[in-house]
Amino acid sequence: MRKLTLVLVCLLVALPASAKPRLGAIASAHPLATEAGFEVLAAGGNACDAAVAVSAALAVVEPVSSGIGGGAFYLIERRGGQALFVDARETAPASATRDMYLGADGEHDRRRSLDGPLAAGIPGEPAALAHVVKRCGRLDLKRTLAPAIRLASEGFEPDAFHLLMAGMRKAALAASPAAAAIFLDNGEAPKAGFRLVQKDLAAVLQRLARAGKAGFYEGETARLIVDGVNAAGGAWTADDLKHYKVVERAPLRGRYRDMDVLTAPPPSSGGVALLAALNILEGFALDLRDSVTGKHLIVEAMRRAYRDRAEYLGDPDFVAMPIAQLIDKNYAAGLRAGIRPDRATPSASLPGAPAGPEGTDTTHFSVVDTHGNVVSATLSVNIPFGSGFVPPGTGILLNDEMDDFSAKEGSPNTYGLIGAHANAIAPGKRPLSSMTPTILRRGDTMAVLGTPGGSRIISMVLLGALEFAAGNDDPAAWVSTGRYHHQFWPDVIEYEPEGLNDTDRAGLERLGHTLKPVDRRYGNMQAIAWQPANGEMKAASDPRRKGSAQVR
Ligand code: DON
Repeated sequence: MRKLTLVLVCLLVALPASAKPRLGAIASAHPLATEAGFEVLAAGGNACDAAVAVSAALAVVEPVSSGIGGGAFYLIERRGGQALFVDARETAPASATRDMYLGADGEHDRRRSLDGPLAAGIPGEPAALAHVVKRCGRLDLKRTLAPAIRLASEGFEPDAFHLLMAGMRKAALAASPAAAAIFLDNGEAPKAGFRLVQKDLAAVLQRLARAGKAGFYEGETARLIVDGVNAAGGAWTADDLKHYKVVERAPLRGRYRDMDVLTAPPPSSGGVALLAALNILEGFALDLRDSVTGKHLIVEAMRRAYRDRAEYLGDPDFVAMPIAQLIDKNYAAGLRAGIRPDRATPSASLPGAPAGPEGTDTTHFSVVDTHGNVVSATLSVNIPFGSGFVPPGTGILLNDEMDDFSAKEGSPNTYGLIGAHANAIAPGKRPLSSMTPTILRRGDTMAVLGTPGGSRIISMVLLGALEFAAGNDDPAAWVSTGRYHHQFWPDVIEYEPEGLNDTDRAGLERLGHTLKPVDRRYGNMQAIAWQPANGEMKAASDPRRKGSAQVR
């Protein structure tokens, strides 16, 4: 009998890795956020309710990456197959102008598009929380925001990554007295053991919970935000907030061999570039290639997909874009014909504009419930702690997503991405994003995935999708695969330490590629595999960070 009990206990403990769940599966960047999602599923919520609970909890416990001062994309597939994309990207305020970040010398003054209130777009995430709960949830905002409100008022101990990033962003946080009072400890980056309590943020979340969208975009919260921004050199009006709207857009669909792809449309560039790269690669029988040639072809596909991103993409409500052509199989065949299997194509020999460095934050989570609803969501304040600016009395860290616009044609943003007229700054416009929440289906299995990582998001999702397409159904493999990246400009393959082995490096250099090691591992993918027919789920968090992926 004791033996039987022991076996049963072992089975129960083993359940999270892969199991037929009672509630569902959640993979997020923070254990407390994953917990918040399960709390809401256990209270009778579905994946949409859980997504709202996870998002709001992340806003409290992972302010480095996302928050209600930022924006988000939610890709949702409801039970029965209906798919929707909730675009809660930030918008430029009415005062924005095309050249607002150019200095007297006509050059892009990067600090102004990254730090302080002038760097912030009008937040979209609070509107998304209200929208998602109403559109497809079963519970209300009061219930779904409750875990986040608790975490904000009771506090928690930030992890080592948070402390490290607070050090890195100390100057921006110190420039905002309200941010310094919350996120610094006597003007210094906090140390291990620091308890982060966010009373003002709790009150803001409570107003959102009570009054819905108007509880943030109008009334007390809106007044505090507008006054705070303007007192510190920004230029927002009450109407900027009042008129903010999420937009529901049709997700992009595509197919790669026997895999269906559901992914993010503009103002994300991610889905277009992902499908374009997959279309190019479809003609290459990657499974029959040696490792170096396979990686060379993947890099050449990335190069061409990122080139089109720079040239054509922007906010669909402002610019006309040839999306149908960019994701067309015949167009891809033309691009494929220009790829030599034995030689790198210099980016400078392709028509298109030139782009530099990188930055580091944003967050992705995936949720599947047992009713058959799936959410793949990527949320961001842009670089760590966003603009570093908190309007006094709100606890809201505003984003610095304005840097995702092309401040000057051909001048790279913080991720080294260049853009053209399509992504120029204009009032009310959404900056082009790389966030690529994606849902894939091959045979009996669905894959839900995404990651932060600035410009590298798209190549990371591509590499994860190719793992799945090659027959690997284990999300642990997608999130841990070694990463390499090419974004057209600069004309280099960046790779993390385990991304390319000695043979790959020597082979790729022989083909004419320039290699640039990134001295740390990058990305934070959160993924779920689900088999609708038998209900089995598996969840995995990127081993590079400290997320939490569970099946319960
Ligand atoms: O929307 C975008 O593309 C960027 N703001 C995302 C930033 C990001 O992923 C940074 N994370 N590591």
